[in-house]
Amino acid sequence: MECEKDLFCGVNYADKDVEDMNELEKKHTPTIEVEELDESRYRVRIKVGEYKEHPNEHSHFIESLELYSGRTFLGRATFASARSEPVATFVIELDHKHPLVAFSRCNMHGTWRSDEKEI
Ligand SMILES: [Fe+2]
Repeated sequence: MECEKDLFCGVNYADKDVEDMNELEKKHTPTIEVEELDESRYRVRIKVGEYKEHPNEHSHFIESLELYSGRTFLGRATFASARSEPVATFVIELDHKHPLVAFSRCNMHGTWRSDEKEI
């Protein structure tokens, strides 16, 4: 199999507007919402399903969500199949700011990243 066609090789990234995404991209691309709490603290909500609901079954589900500021790891949430929705909220404190990026991991379709979110 060619690398470009292997969902489990590297990180999948739609890199396009929502209306141009295919079904697979809409179901897996995480989204980021940010609320500024003060000059260095933020409440960040990341989720899968904003563009199109992803299945949440024992055989097919979102296993985890991760949040980064640039290349700095900020947090990870893991989910049980069928019983937990792929939504996570983190409160973060940053003394220097890089764009936020979220990653989702599907047990059947690999790892997907969000667009960068400037803060
Ligand atoms: Fe999936």
